[in-house]
Amino acid sequence: MSASPIITLDKNGQEILTVGFNRFGFDSEVGLEALRSLYLRPHYVVSADEIPATASDLDEESQEKQHAKFNQGHIYLSKSIFHPNTHSISYTTLSRFPPVKLLPPSTRKRILVTGGAGFVGSHLVDRLMLLGHEVTVIDNFFTGSKTTVSHWVGHPNFELVRHDVVEPFMIECDQIYHLACPASPPHYQFNAVKTIKTSFLGTLNMLGLAKRTKARFLISSTSEVYGDPEVHPQSEDYWGNVNPIGPRACYDEGKRVAETLTYGFHRQDGVDVRVARIFNTYGPRMNPYDGRVVSNFIVQALRGEDLTVYGDGKQTRSFQYIHDLVDGLICLMNSDETRPVNIGNGDEFTIGEFAELVREIVEQVQERDGEKPAKRVGVVYKPIPQDDPQRRRPDTTRAKETLGWQPRWTVRMGLEEMVRYYKAKMAEGSI
Ligand SMILES: NC(=O)c1ccc[n+]([C@@H]2O[C@H](COP(=O)([O-])OP(=O)(O)OC[C@H]3O[C@@H](n4cnc5c(N)ncnc54)[C@H](O)[C@@H]3O)[C@@H](O)[C@H]2O)c1
Repeated sequence: MSASPIITLDKNGQEILTVGFNRFGFDSEVGLEALRSLYLRPHYVVSADEIPATASDLDEESQEKQHAKFNQGHIYLSKSIFHPNTHSISYTTLSRFPPVKLLPPSTRKRILVTGGAGFVGSHLVDRLMLLGHEVTVIDNFFTGSKTTVSHWVGHPNFELVRHDVVEPFMIECDQIYHLACPASPPHYQFNAVKTIKTSFLGTLNMLGLAKRTKARFLISSTSEVYGDPEVHPQSEDYWGNVNPIGPRACYDEGKRVAETLTYGFHRQDGVDVRVARIFNTYGPRMNPYDGRVVSNFIVQALRGEDLTVYGDGKQTRSFQYIHDLVDGLICLMNSDETRPVNIGNGDEFTIGEFAELVREIVEQVQERDGEKPAKRVGVVYKPIPQDDPQRRRPDTTRAKETLGWQPRWTVRMGLEEMVRYYKAKMAEGSI
């Protein structure tokens, strides 16, 4: 892991030092470094040469020294020890949790995040925890992992519960972010019936909870509700073009019915609802093997393998960085907007162009780290899967007008962080 600080510039060339903002009476701003330390720094003391074969051989004083040296002021990281030779880790509990804000009861919320151990959920949890709220995660760990939120386990503001949303769940809370649902094609197609049950029954259960507790309910819907769209870009008023019996239907139609259910509870029972239609999002902690294009390309490039493009590479996609999405979700939750809102980045790339960009950034990071690969990776083309949409790009006018939200991260900046994250994970052998 490189210790050099990463300078992150936004779309206007301004350095990004914090993410989030104070809007609708909810302050979601936290320092980027504090957030980054939760995913870009490994949670262990590392030493290639000085650490003996077993942790027990290391006396307490040298452990402290190692710890101080490695953490560089981040005293709240764990003292777990990584053994590079055996790619093993001896876990300890955290020496100190990251500092969280102290909020008065009037602004401190009890927040439930379903699917909070997944990619999007864990970043949302990090933000809400640093902001000083009480966070409960429920997750069945189908695609998520305890390791994504392990740095909060034991914190008095945090609770992690293994639970399947297909079954009812009782808790007192003020806000519910309902994210639980596998999101990548291989995962949601693994058990299509279960995916539909999760979308329908899971959403029904969480809406029932919102109705009882009068909590505000936000569902993470998806751009997939637009299917293979006939209009570009897609605004929230477009009804979509979805194949109801194709291999993606369990997810697409599942999310559509989940939205229907959400508005049913809203109209019939007065549940306070928010619907976020999320477009392609990428960032650290994304499962590298779930077939999503960004992770596929980065892992292939880091391994020195050719990048695989499905189809002719002319189909376009837009990619948003995880911190922009979390900003958007928090903003929507705390706004008065009850209509669906697209949250995505409108910068459109062809998949072919995107492959080139990933290749370039991986090369740059490798060069900066003094690791020039033996040969340049190529780009290979393979047949396109069924029902893969040709084009999708969000119209984010509504988010801009009603939330004052716009993406700040350039694809390049986001990719650089993500390359560093995967590179570190590959070096330790955990992916
Ligand atoms: N990542 C994206 O680009 C994207 C795009 C559009 C929509 N979304 C939506 O955002 C949400 C989160 O997506 P993600 O990318 O973090 O996916 P993810 O697979 O990383 O996270 C989903 C989480 O939900 C959990 N889960 C799945 N089924 C469950 C069940 N029955 N009960 C309890 N927990 C369950 C998983 O274990 C996992 O932790 C999903 O609802 C997804 O549809 C994501």
